[in-house]
Amino acid sequence: MTNPTLLILAGDGIGPEVMGQVTRIIDWYGKNRDLAFDVEHDLVGGAAYDKHGTPLHDDTMAKALAADAVLLGAVGGPKYDDLDFSVKPERGLLRLRKEMDLFSNLRPAQCFDALADFSSLKKDIVAGLDIMIVRELTSGVYFGEPRGIFEEGNERVGINTQRYTESEIDRVARSAFELARRRSGKVCSMEKANVMESGILWREVVQKVRDTDYPDIELTHMYADNGAMQLVRAPKQFDVIVTDNLFGDILSDCAAMLTGSLGMLPSASLGAPNPDGRPKALYEPVHGSAPDIAGQGKANPIACILSFAMALRYSFDQGDEATRLENAVEKVLADGARTADLMGPEDGTPISTTEMGDAILAALD
Ligand code: NAI
Ligand code: MG
Repeated sequence: MTNPTLLILAGDGIGPEVMGQVTRIIDWYGKNRDLAFDVEHDLVGGAAYDKHGTPLHDDTMAKALAADAVLLGAVGGPKYDDLDFSVKPERGLLRLRKEMDLFSNLRPAQCFDALADFSSLKKDIVAGLDIMIVRELTSGVYFGEPRGIFEEGNERVGINTQRYTESEIDRVARSAFELARRRSGKVCSMEKANVMESGILWREVVQKVRDTDYPDIELTHMYADNGAMQLVRAPKQFDVIVTDNLFGDILSDCAAMLTGSLGMLPSASLGAPNPDGRPKALYEPVHGSAPDIAGQGKANPIACILSFAMALRYSFDQGDEATRLENAVEKVLADGARTADLMGPEDGTPISTTEMGDAILAALD
């Protein structure tokens, strides 16, 4: 049997620092759990621009398409801010998303008990929270035509178009229902069917997919503005939320902050299934390259480590091993391990990126 393949694109800033801890954990799985990966490292973002003059080399793109999963650190930094738009580090990430056709973006919002005090909400509202937002990632108002700034009479008009085809809604709905089957079986779909035709179609198609192929799923619909209110009022009423690109962008950031630090938040972006049944997949922390702390050993590696846990679960069907890793993270937090982002100024001395990696490896042992 050949090992599954992982392409690691550590990127810029703290990307390589947090990914260094993930690499140690991947090695641990190979040695201790008989779960070996063929790992290849390559460049993305500013690091790729420095070497190749482009934020994603064609060879790297080809490797990403061939890999069973891609793990990405973060891209960007002040050094690249003045580059032409076409070669900006972010373009590397956008090209990956586009060519891998990663239409389903999974953003968990999970509150670890040890960090419940970190939430901006009361502890009992967020303690034990574990929800998943599925955001459509490749269509909607960020891509719809016509778009642009046009002259109209004696003034300018800015135009973007919310546009969804039935098949685009169908496939992201399926992805949410599949996910819900591994969880509580509950899905809430959010749009604005009261004021937008694209929302009416969205609601209709999601319901039809449920009725035709997922009768076991408990599906509800909610207007996205009410959804935003409910997320901060009583977030534990939800399990899986599925929504479009624009609402998903906002709702997932909002849900994420219920749980504390950016340094804790993983994500997965899934595309169409390959012939072997595995979806094309990219896993990455939600945070960026954090230039303000890069190179100082301060970064929290947990977001990147939990992204690898998502890879174990969604690309490699190793849900038990994913849970093992998540439990190890939960344990070190309960034991009081804190990087600087997880503590206030009065709370003592934080541990380093590597020390957090050490603690998680020790908990795995
Ligand atoms: P950022 O996420 O890099 O940082 C925001 C704040 O959170 C900073 O104070 C940072 O120190 C802190 N932070 C982020 N991750 C952390 C971690 N793991 N541990 C501890 N603290 C952490 O966002 P910002 O500052 O807006 O952007 C910085 C650069 O990153 C820009 O070039 C931006 O374009 C890029 N970026 C890249 C993303 C990606 O690769 N997916 C996403 C967001 C931003
Ligand atoms: Mg956002």
